[in-house]
Amino acid sequence: MPQARAIKIAPSILASDFANFGAECRAIEDQGCDWVHVDVMDGHFVPNITFGPATCAAIRPHIKTVMDVHLMIAPVDPYIDAFAQAGADVITAHLEAGPHIHRTLQAIRATGAKAGLALNPGSGIDSIAHLLDLTDLICVMTVNPGFGGQKFIHSQLDKIRALRAMIGDRPIHIQVDGGVTVETAPLVSAAGADVLVAGSAVFKGGSVDHPAAYGDNIAAIRAAAVAAQRNI
Ligand code: DX5
Ligand code: ZN
Repeated sequence: MPQARAIKIAPSILASDFANFGAECRAIEDQGCDWVHVDVMDGHFVPNITFGPATCAAIRPHIKTVMDVHLMIAPVDPYIDAFAQAGADVITAHLEAGPHIHRTLQAIRATGAKAGLALNPGSGIDSIAHLLDLTDLICVMTVNPGFGGQKFIHSQLDKIRALRAMIGDRPIHIQVDGGVTVETAPLVSAAGADVLVAGSAVFKGGSVDHPAAYGDNIAAIRAAAVAAQRNI
């Protein structure tokens, strides 16, 4: 059984105050998050629009940890350099975003950013065996991408377990994104995930003026995930 990886909590700012991104990033980091998950949506690959490289560049100075940029866009390649220049530490593209994902991952790595590969709930892992040497993170979507606050899709747990076995001891994070709460966090960490994205479950009940709830939510999600790792 591969060594359990340290659990990282990556709040998604999709669930934060869009008028206060800088202060929200500072607040979740002060309250103990490990990464900041930035959901870029283009209204084409997903039925929602959020923001682009300029917003990422604007929030970068407010992030001391890791800016984890999730590109829910198609095509991806024309925009990789812009997100790298904006300061993304991790740039994740969707397997489903185009026909040349191998080239996309190469292009992400060429910028010096870590390369992430995201899989929609309908995508299997059989097609990614030849991409592992180009990947630093695999994001298993546990909702259909585009919106926060959706219900966790439990069928993805088998995919996470199979991915964990496929990855073995390779230095590849398994990230889970969508519907992660204190109830579902133990399920995904027991299945082998180590980076947990959570939007509504982290930001609920708090604000930049009352950030303590962020810290309580982050701590509760982490504790539930770590406890489940110990029981494997
Ligand atoms: C959905 C995004 C997720 C989402 C998570 O397309 O990729 O990161 O913001 O939000 P919650 O945690 O509320 O499901
Ligand atoms: Zn995301």
